[in-house]
Amino acid sequence: MQTGLIRHSQYMEFLRSVPSFQSLPEDVLSKVADVLEEAHYSEGDYIIRQGATGDTFFIVIEGQVMVTQQKSADGEPVFLTTLSRGDWFGEQALKGEDIRTANVTATGDVTCLIMDRESFIQLIGVLDEVNNRVYESDKVNAKVESEAAFFST
Ligand code: CMP
Repeated sequence: MQTGLIRHSQYMEFLRSVPSFQSLPEDVLSKVADVLEEAHYSEGDYIIRQGATGDTFFIVIEGQVMVTQQKSADGEPVFLTTLSRGDWFGEQALKGEDIRTANVTATGDVTCLIMDRESFIQLIGVLDEVNNRVYESDKVNAKVESEAAFFST
């Protein structure tokens, strides 16, 4: 029981340091800390695969991950960004369609805190910054797709 309490307070301290979560009240952060599960990955592990279905949200607590995206069915994945302690990912599949929009792989040893869809929607999904996040690369994709649709009609 003691270890559970220590872990809970460590998670609380960490969550308070995440800029996106700064507006969440203490009781909500405490509920988040209650439901988080820890997951460990090694260099090259796929944490998320583009195109797979998914129902989990991730917060990086240790290490670095790389986000890549395949722009077409036969293309190579393109590097988008790296994320590290305090960054989060996996929110896109939790709103609307449950398809993962990019690959996320571990670059070295990584620890993530994970929460399921239901807790995410109740506790974190209320944050505009998380819910309304749009990535530049996805805006470009949407533009290309709508232009292609326009020219094909
Ligand atoms: P999701 O689609 O659930 O799984 C892959 C995740 O990668 C996605 O949620 C976002 O959190 C993240 N992601 C997608 N596109 C980008 C991008 N252009 N830059 C940074 N992260 C991204």
